[in-house]
Amino acid sequence: MSNWPVHGKITGPIVMIGFGSIGRGTLPLIERHFEYDKSRFVVIGPDDADRALLDERGIRFIKEAVTKDNYKTLLEPLLTVGGGQGFCVNLSVDTGSLDIMQLCSNLGALYIDTVNEPWLGFYFDHSKGASERSNYALREATLSAKHARPAGTTTAVSCCGANPGMVSWFVKQGLLNIAADLGLQIPEPKSREDWGRLAQTVGVKGIHIAERDTQRARQPKLPGVFVNTWSVEGFVSEGMQPAELGWGTHETWMPENGREHEAGCKAAIYLLQPGANTRVRSWCPTPGAQYGFLVTHNESISIADYFTVRDEARKPVYRPTCHYAYHPANDAVLSLHEMFGAAGKVQDQHHILEENEIVDGIDELGVLLYGHGKNAYWYGSQLSVEETRRIAPYQNATGMQVTSAVLAGMVWALENPKAGIVEADEMDFRRCLEVQLPYLGPVTGHYTDWTPLDGRPGFFPEDIDTSDPWQFRNILVR
Ligand SMILES: NC(=O)c1ccc[n+]([C@@H]2O[C@H](COP(=O)([O-])OP(=O)(O)OC[C@H]3O[C@@H](n4cnc5c(N)ncnc54)[C@H](O)[C@@H]3O)[C@@H](O)[C@H]2O)c1
Repeated sequence: MSNWPVHGKITGPIVMIGFGSIGRGTLPLIERHFEYDKSRFVVIGPDDADRALLDERGIRFIKEAVTKDNYKTLLEPLLTVGGGQGFCVNLSVDTGSLDIMQLCSNLGALYIDTVNEPWLGFYFDHSKGASERSNYALREATLSAKHARPAGTTTAVSCCGANPGMVSWFVKQGLLNIAADLGLQIPEPKSREDWGRLAQTVGVKGIHIAERDTQRARQPKLPGVFVNTWSVEGFVSEGMQPAELGWGTHETWMPENGREHEAGCKAAIYLLQPGANTRVRSWCPTPGAQYGFLVTHNESISIADYFTVRDEARKPVYRPTCHYAYHPANDAVLSLHEMFGAAGKVQDQHHILEENEIVDGIDELGVLLYGHGKNAYWYGSQLSVEETRRIAPYQNATGMQVTSAVLAGMVWALENPKAGIVEADEMDFRRCLEVQLPYLGPVTGHYTDWTPLDGRPGFFPEDIDTSDPWQFRNILVR
């Protein structure tokens, strides 16, 4: 297909930071969907393994790491040369998202990333406590910058991949679907407050970002290799952060190692244990009931925060619990098992499965809205690797869900260039999904009768709350 819709014009330079699995997959989408000057497209990263893809297109590559010390001198000339409005597309690890988005704002350049990334060293800094190493802390710093900016500053889209990112748009569509199926006559919300009230009226107690990646590698994982379907570095870093979750107003119990933060929006708590070694009970359409890992993510906090309803004294009266329940590809599960079995020592070898190394499988990534009048509803994408191969090059199904969200976020930024710092929750979910849907395979909704109390207690006594199946007490595996 060659008649791809062109969604907008980028008038200045495009500066892509990082050219890993997500950068490579985003490249063909930028080529298809934007008008821009190819001679002003530059990619920066310390690793030139895939530069042939750029060389054959005549796209400039700068083999350098972006660091706290060099980012201003390196990026400023690249983002401003030749006039027009530059666009910084940050798809790297270990680069300080906040510093770079602030620089872009000063330069009048648009900015997007898929994760609120700190500078190198943050994730494994033993001098920092768990709260300081949390996504909550990273997000609070970004929120402070957002609120300090005058209205109408250049748009910087924070955390706009599949999750964080697209799943925030799924939550809104899912809520509307349940409201319609419950026969509620509620007009579509126009404000954040209205969205919170809709979630409260629908009776959603919580939301899992419920994912099952069934992509299967041709070669089984070898010992000593961490295998994943997207960034190993990214996954290990977030997996070693504390487990974090948006903390709902219906929760009556907190694990003994659960902690609240001392300052900030207070929408989330954290556990004194790594997220990738924290299991929860969840549900996806293909496997049904399954274990997922409660890995910290920006959306766990931003969604809980966004849908909080407050009384006149600003006290929260409604908030959904929200967290990730991630069953990665089987090889990644084995990789985590091996890593935590070695007391968290990360394997020396990392491998991201390319599309041509995968036999079959789908990335089933959606949101499970639970605790309402119809029990639970999963809404999401069931993109297969086969379909991914047909629709775009250089990526597997996981990558495609991320890169198409980056595309949607870039389109939204071009159409809303003076929105300041925004998260996916604050963007027009209809417009973003409209851009993204051609890349998501089947996007479907499923009701289920499953609850985390199904089949419990089994042979042994368990600490469960039978009065409310949807308590985190029942969801957390202990
Ligand atoms: N929101 C989402 O849904 C989502 C999903 C997948 C990945 N991500 C994030 O996207 C980012 C990229 O993921 P990926 O799978 O492409 O990772 P990857 O590991 O394949 O690639 C990372 C890239 O960053 C580059 N890099 C490393 N240090 C750098 C530095 N100092 N300056 C510039 N570049 C540097 C590497 O050379 C590489 O090109 C990660 O932060 C990851 O967490 C988000």
